[in-house]
Amino acid sequence: MKFFTFLTIIGTAIAAPLVATPRLHPTSLSRRAAASNSNPSFTDIWQLALHVEHLEIGLYFTAFARFSQQDFINAGFDAFYYQTLRDILHEHQFQATSIRRNQLYVEDSVVQACSYSFSFTDVKSFISLSATLEGFATSFYLSLIHSVVAAPDPDTSLEFALTIAGSTAAIDAKHVALQRLSLKQNVTDTNFFPQLGLNESYTFAKSFAKSCPKTGYQLPFTPLPTLIPNVTQVVPGQIVDFYSPLPIDNSLNGLFIFDFYDIASTILTTGDKPGHFHTRIPSDIVSPVSQMYFVVTKYDENDYLDESTVLAGPAVFQVLP
Ligand SMILES: *[C@@H]1O[C@H](CO)[C@@H](O)[C@H](O)[C@H]1NC(C)=O
Ligand SMILES: *[C@@H]1O[C@H](CO)[C@@H](O)[C@H](O)[C@H]1NC(C)=O
Ligand SMILES: *[C@@H]1O[C@H](CO)[C@@H](O)[C@H](O)[C@H]1NC(C)=O
Repeated sequence: MKFFTFLTIIGTAIAAPLVATPRLHPTSLSRRAAASNSNPSFTDIWQLALHVEHLEIGLYFTAFARFSQQDFINAGFDAFYYQTLRDILHEHQFQATSIRRNQLYVEDSVVQACSYSFSFTDVKSFISLSATLEGFATSFYLSLIHSVVAAPDPDTSLEFALTIAGSTAAIDAKHVALQRLSLKQNVTDTNFFPQLGLNESYTFAKSFAKSCPKTGYQLPFTPLPTLIPNVTQVVPGQIVDFYSPLPIDNSLNGLFIFDFYDIASTILTTGDKPGHFHTRIPSDIVSPVSQMYFVVTKYDENDYLDESTVLAGPAVFQVLP
């Protein structure tokens, strides 16, 4: 049972080197590899988790390659904070190692890291992007709990799989709080993290990838068309412009996802230029939220998110008080 191995790793990591990677029984591999897009397997789900870890590791590596400890100090952050960021990178590397060692048995079939492009320009915009990505990852791992329950693996203890998903979500939420606090942003303004489906999560993670290797495990997801807002920090009631390659018309529905049950639909108005449309951020966001998502769906009922009807997105917004 794979997750026993995970506990073994935790138990022995301090005293002893990591245990050898277990090998998958060949018949088991073919069963696991038979995945379809609409019905992701247990392996697909955890390979996607590894894809998300690669993205986060890529973010911290890029930042450490670009900024020295002195750059952080010059930007008003101390050496202890810089060391904590390095520790966060190690936490993600540990998460990636744990997933690799426990979900996957054949080295060749592990999803490989892509090369990434991140938009930050200075230390502060890196920290802000880090808070966004860690918030996204927290939402992703919470959604993963649902996906794992929907696609259990007969060889794996469901309790261990859920413990790892829940624990990883908690660790990423800790990173969100650290980054927001370091930017003097509110860290108690989130009652519930929003949840994002696998397709939306894949799409968001993919939006940072420049190119991905053709070797290794190929994730069976197709990115959704993007939604590019003209601003990423919003206040309730504000109008936002979007560009999307998806033709938008009034048969479609816009949905803001504040948390797992708080969802608001909004009217989409096509703009003057092709591909452009606009909509209003709801003015009555009841539950506190710092990071929310926006998708376009074909669902014609209000305030309901059915993942299979999502046509484009997500766009990510920071909500200012
Ligand atoms: C943070 O947000 C919460 C919820 O909106 C609010 O009650 C609290 O006063 C805020 N704290 C700070 C330090 O602004
Ligand atoms: C974004 O679009 C809105 C709605 O058209 C507009 O009012 C706002 O000025 C735009 N903001 C930026 C930064 O372009
Ligand atoms: C994800 O997208 C695929 C098309 O790429 C679709 O077939 C599938 O139903 C979607 N999955 C969910 C859970 O909506």
